[in-house]
Amino acid sequence: MITPAPSLTRIVLGLTGGIAAYKACELVRLFVKAGVRVDVVMTAGACRFVTPMTLQALSGRPVLTDLWTSGADNGMGHIDLSRGADAIVIAPASADFLAKLAQGHADDLLSTLCAARACPLLVAPAMNRQMWGNAANQRNVARLAADGVAILGPGSGDQACGETGDGRMLEAEEIFAAVIASRQPRLLAGRRVLVTAGPTFERIDPVRGITNSSSGRMGYALAQAAVEAGAAVTLVSGPTALPTPPGAVRVDVESAAEMHAAVMARIAGADLFLAVAAVADYTPARVAERKIKKSGAPLAIELEPTIDILGTVAARADAPYCVGFAAESHDVLQHADDKRRRKGIPLIIANRVQDALGRVDNEVTLLDDAGTHPLPRMDKLDLARRLVAEIAARLPRPASPRSRP
Ligand code: CTP
Repeated sequence: MITPAPSLTRIVLGLTGGIAAYKACELVRLFVKAGVRVDVVMTAGACRFVTPMTLQALSGRPVLTDLWTSGADNGMGHIDLSRGADAIVIAPASADFLAKLAQGHADDLLSTLCAARACPLLVAPAMNRQMWGNAANQRNVARLAADGVAILGPGSGDQACGETGDGRMLEAEEIFAAVIASRQPRLLAGRRVLVTAGPTFERIDPVRGITNSSSGRMGYALAQAAVEAGAAVTLVSGPTALPTPPGAVRVDVESAAEMHAAVMARIAGADLFLAVAAVADYTPARVAERKIKKSGAPLAIELEPTIDILGTVAARADAPYCVGFAAESHDVLQHADDKRRRKGIPLIIANRVQDALGRVDNEVTLLDDAGTHPLPRMDKLDLARRLVAEIAARLPRPASPRSRP
């Protein structure tokens, strides 16, 4: 489910000439679905690739293409359109348009709107790899970055011209996420965050295993919210069907033992550990090498406890700020607080299993030394952003560079 940042209500989306213009159609759809008003402005080049009619149908708003007929009664359409906007996003941004922006040209509607704006400008370059690497283009991009323009991507891969390399426009979902992220307060800037998410899968034999119904959504949403807040995020994930949040480094694991090893290899230097994964508490003592055949007789599988990853991290001398999750079916707050004390962590986030597992929304209560702090039910990504704000307010201030090892 897509939810807008509360602070994003209206954007101007500029399209310039490039085959990636077709991806802008999907981008409009994502913004509109998230409740954001999109005013589309197209250059003459963009109109060669997709029609204004397509963008008009998708945005539900008139599409503007001409400086001289840009609609405003006061003749100030070239200024008015970007005045109330939260951001101008150029996707695709051609090499020619980046050059114009870098030079401050204002000879068509889109470049004029950019020049006369009072809001952030984000550009998603899209071009052939040699055009991207061209010295003049690199100079222009560096100039724009120095001027405070956000450069989204570009990505790397197969190009429309048949070549492979840098210059491909980011996917619509990535641009959407980057624009939303640009509106979030940078509460975790400079922080390193390690997140575990999803279920684990404990093998019984080559085809069977023990797992649980965690979807991974809450952990992935927290990883995304932490990236948006400016953190460097590593997401250690059990098996899920979810896409990696743009900007997070994902490490895939299967079992509790693999998750433990992956966390321990990356925990040093982390400021924050978010243990969101539903880690198996028990694992088969032995994994059968061959598929177990049925015999008609009862079958017992011996299980042994797994390592408590969160407890182990919290017990380290250099432990980061540790946040645990407690999914309980009954006596939620009592069990959660016991768990918090047992594991020696400053904050635990509790919910009823019935309220969270497999759902897109969640209702939680925070428990710390000061007591219990219930939050209203919300979509998991909104909740993740709220939790990031709550956690950031509790995080100890970073050690000064001199006192860090
Ligand atoms: N956790 C962990 N490593 C484990 C088990 C759990 O890091 N081997 C973390 C989870 O990510 C979560 C918290 O610990 O943050 C949950 O605590 P836990 O005691 O495992 O909860 P339950 O398994 O629900 O415990 P119980 O069955 O006793 O209720």
